[in-house]
Amino acid sequence: MLVSTEGTGLSQTALKGVFIIIVFGIIKLCLRLYQVRKLFRDIPNKYGIPILPHSFLFGHIPIVIKVMSSHPKDIYGNYLPMLLRQEYPDICSRGLVYVDVWPLGYPLLAVFDPGLMSQFTQVQSQPKHEHIRRQFEPFTQGQDLLVAEGEQWSKWRRIFNPGFSAKNIVPCIPAILEEIEVFRDWLKEAARSGETVTLEQQSEKLTVDVISRIVLGSRLHSQTEQNSFYSAMRNQTSWLSVDNQPLGFLATMLNPIRPIALWRNNITMKSFLLPHIQKVLRQKEKEHGPETILSLAIQSYTVQDEPTLRDSNFIDVLVAQLKIFMFAGHETTAGILCYLYHILYSNPTILDTMRREHDSIFGLDLATTSAKIKDNPTLLNKLPYTSAVIKETLRLFTPAGTVRAGSPDFFLRQPETGERYPTNGMMVYGCSSATHRDEAFWPEPGRCIPERWLVPEGDFLHPQKNAYRPFELGPRNCIGQETAQLELRAIMVMTVREFDIESQFPADGPRMFGEVAYQTYKVGKIIPQPRNDMPVRVMLRTS
Ligand code: HEM
Ligand SMILES: *[C@@H]1O[C@H](CO)[C@@H](O)[C@H](O)[C@H]1NC(C)=O
Ligand SMILES: *[C@@H]1O[C@H](CO)[C@@H](O)[C@H](O)[C@H]1NC(C)=O
Repeated sequence: MLVSTEGTGLSQTALKGVFIIIVFGIIKLCLRLYQVRKLFRDIPNKYGIPILPHSFLFGHIPIVIKVMSSHPKDIYGNYLPMLLRQEYPDICSRGLVYVDVWPLGYPLLAVFDPGLMSQFTQVQSQPKHEHIRRQFEPFTQGQDLLVAEGEQWSKWRRIFNPGFSAKNIVPCIPAILEEIEVFRDWLKEAARSGETVTLEQQSEKLTVDVISRIVLGSRLHSQTEQNSFYSAMRNQTSWLSVDNQPLGFLATMLNPIRPIALWRNNITMKSFLLPHIQKVLRQKEKEHGPETILSLAIQSYTVQDEPTLRDSNFIDVLVAQLKIFMFAGHETTAGILCYLYHILYSNPTILDTMRREHDSIFGLDLATTSAKIKDNPTLLNKLPYTSAVIKETLRLFTPAGTVRAGSPDFFLRQPETGERYPTNGMMVYGCSSATHRDEAFWPEPGRCIPERWLVPEGDFLHPQKNAYRPFELGPRNCIGQETAQLELRAIMVMTVREFDIESQFPADGPRMFGEVAYQTYKVGKIIPQPRNDMPVRVMLRTS
């Protein structure tokens, strides 16, 4: 009797507890809802800046659903600001748009006017938004160059900058060529089979093999074999997914396997990198081995800070940095490589002009190209047309933007009218893909026109100041931008004259801004992916 009464009393207390927690949760949610919606209402009310039609209950969610639903379902989120600009030209005429999809996403201020973008990246570099820090937390514990801030960031950026200079990358060119040869063998095999193959995965393997040569000075062989580091990195980043569906996002985050997989991958990656670090540390005591990003980092660090060298914290940060280079250096570059072949195949004149440029620098005998580059790597800097096509590809298929934290005392300002745009509570998104497709800055924005990059300043085609930012501008710009472009030029020279690589999309398939190979969201990937992983047919060139 006694026991059972006590039991009932206990479960009643527990029930009460749960009830209180739920009520408390609901109140908190309502308060937050009120705060966020009020933040947006203040923009027209206090600052006189018009915003999209706003519902107190749903914010801009209905508008976003409506705008997105008339386009292919798998388009990547970077298209949203462009679509809003198209749908609400007046509201977006200031070069920015406030978007309230809370609780599905952070309060967003998407900015696409280059003058306004420069205010939070170049004139004043606002801290990265917590979204990106949280996203990369399981990968690098907030220690890496991409998300670090303040002293922690500037110290490491100084350490790594020289490693990515041309002086340091050029000696890596023979190693890069060796990896491109492996890719070429894959293309030959694809040509022999005559089948349609997807280019995206193989491009990623190529670019990760290349970046490993530059960063670690060793071969991953991921193009031809299973590599433990590469598999663990891919698996790890698949759990950081930025799902475009709230339910998919929850399913990833609440998956019971997630913590175990994160923990295991974390160990696998460190165990792979540690011997490389130890080897460099040992070599340092004897004499210099070949210079890599890793060895340069260790050298410059020791000059500044000898005692902490064997510090386990130093090793952990170094591991985090190596991981971010391996990651940031491959997915972006691989996507651009896929789009390069797609653009070349879709524009025969551009392809032909590029091939003629390669002939003029390297001669007609393809078998000697590799040797000629090794003899004189600076030849890769004498390809203005190829560089221009790469720039256009980066403009048309921009893989990444930047997200910065807004703050109560930080306003964007329209230089002519003096109008002020509050950033308090906002994720300030530099949406360069929208800038890159803005008619105000790019005549015929949707067309690949390499001549934009070859005409003199003053020509109407010439790019305008700050309007081109695929690697972002200001102190937090991409540390690997020269490396990525050099690598892409080398791949172009080593492949476009030997192969015809035709992207395969049905002509009546879905399109975005008229483009069949638009940027899609793909489960487990962070940045936009070429649609269907870029299916291609490869042919050995006969004429
Ligand atoms: C086509 C290729 C690439 C593109 C389009 C690209 C784009 C970008 C962009 C837009 C940012 C700024 C991100 C932000 O503000 O949050 C960035 C930063 C960064 N990128 Fe790249 N990237 C490319 C290749 C590479 C390569 C090859 C590496 C090096 C191994 C690299 C390493 C980094 C790092 C470490 C940062 C953070 C820099 C800092 O905050 O100081 N990226 N990249
Ligand atoms: C990552 O690894 C886990 C097991 O550790 C597996 O269940 C999952 O499918 C893998 N994900 C990917 C994208 O490979
Ligand atoms: C992951 O590994 C790093 C060292 O590379 C370590 O500092 C960190 O605590 C580990 N994190 C988890 C969650 O296991």
